[in-house]
Amino acid sequence: MRGLFVTFEGIDRSGKTTQAGLLVEALRDEGVAVREPGGTELGERVRDLVKDAALDAGPRAEALLFAAARAQLVEAVIRPALERGGVVVSDRFLDSSLAYQGDARGLGVDEVERVNRFATGGLLPDLTFLLELDPAEAAQRAGMLDRFEDEGLALQRAVAEAYDRLADASPGRWRRLDAGRPAGDVHADVMVAVEAARAAARA
Ligand code: TYD
Repeated sequence: MRGLFVTFEGIDRSGKTTQAGLLVEALRDEGVAVREPGGTELGERVRDLVKDAALDAGPRAEALLFAAARAQLVEAVIRPALERGGVVVSDRFLDSSLAYQGDARGLGVDEVERVNRFATGGLLPDLTFLLELDPAEAAQRAGMLDRFEDEGLALQRAVAEAYDRLADASPGRWRRLDAGRPAGDVHADVMVAVEAARAAARA
């Protein structure tokens, strides 16, 4: 039996990490948590590279670094876990590259999608949660500044619009959640959708 692949997307500080954690906890032994970039030794090293504000990396190089980390994660962790029937929960995945590199940074969603299709062998999530939060509100949530986050509100707004377009284009896979609510309320909606997807997969 094939498992279920669930991803969380949204602008910086929209609560993805919290929600991914709550879901994995609720799934107990069946849940497999991964994050992007990261989740493998190669991925964690790429994470250090792309987060280093002192490193000069153009948008194409950056997109390829994210794709390389993703390729390793899919091959070494995600596909094996799905084949075992697990529920893989990823804090960001392919759609982050489409929104940040493809759309907000102007590389083109189709181009970035092509590169990523090669990287992942075409693997797509079964279910993707979009945590929707006003970028100005997200900016007020505490967090460390890094290469991405200190680029400010304009980038976050562009990313939010990019996610909106992606969700509109594939409504079957995306679930929009109002992330301005308490984490427990958001989590309750997540559980309803995940249970429905699991029931559908079993049917
Ligand atoms: P991270 O600390 O994981 O941010 P967050 O907690 O908000 O998810 O940093 C990841 C940063 O990398 C984030 O600003 C989004 C960016 N990113 C991309 O631009 N493209 C990608 O494909 C991925 C996975 C992340």
